[in-house]
Amino acid sequence: MSTRLTPQDIKSRKNDDTAIVCLTAYTAPMAQILDEYCDLILVGDSMAMCLYGMPSTIGISVDTMINHGRAVASHSKKACVVVDMPFGSYESSPELALENAKRIMDETGCDAVKLEGGIDAENTIDTLVKNGIPVMGHIGLQPQSVEKEGGYKVKGKTDTEIVKLLEDAHAVERAGAFSVVIEGTIENVAAHITENTNIPTIGIGASAQCDGQVLVSEDMLGMLSGHTPKFAKKFAQISDSIHEAVQEYSRDVKSRAFPSADYIYKAK
Ligand code: KIV
Repeated sequence: MSTRLTPQDIKSRKNDDTAIVCLTAYTAPMAQILDEYCDLILVGDSMAMCLYGMPSTIGISVDTMINHGRAVASHSKKACVVVDMPFGSYESSPELALENAKRIMDETGCDAVKLEGGIDAENTIDTLVKNGIPVMGHIGLQPQSVEKEGGYKVKGKTDTEIVKLLEDAHAVERAGAFSVVIEGTIENVAAHITENTNIPTIGIGASAQCDGQVLVSEDMLGMLSGHTPKFAKKFAQISDSIHEAVQEYSRDVKSRAFPSADYIYKAK
């Protein structure tokens, strides 16, 4: 019997005392570790930047998302696995979105897809849900729109933005999404959305008022050089450990201290 959490299980956690735990994973080894601790694992299109060194999330293909999604879904047993629909794979029509979402679901074995957008994505989410594809929404700061918006901008600072955020949240809920990511949004606005929707809100830079939290694993593990957003608390500084290990390896190889007797094969 499968014990994997379903999108419906996640939906039923709305207003739970215990917040929903979500992190990103793009690879099999990371999925195996996260699966022990996370309710949701997101195969985010942030992999464009974190794994492939691209300047933004735009530019990652459906095929690449599928390869990583399959690795994560097949190396986790418990968490609900959600794969991002990349830029260009869903915006132009609900039909294109359905075709790509079906491929992602069928070829990865994931439990749901996520896509960015509120009112503008309502029809698309509705089409996917009516065709049996569970959808997680993503409102507030939407990384796939940063070029259009001229940068990463925190949302909910003006009355116009607050009204738009509420409309977006309601549109995503109305369309049948089982949960919604709220990114880079002022605390009391995220709190208001959380109180006034019936689906769990998963915050990233949107405060502890949300029903759950997500971070990019590479950010919270301190694996990347360069700028990390204010909300991305570093729970470790793994890049330091990698530097130390590689430095020691390099030293030992150069001096021929490695490989020592323990690490070689000898004839009996
Ligand atoms: O791609 C991603 O990692 C995401 C999170 C930032 C929510 O969408």
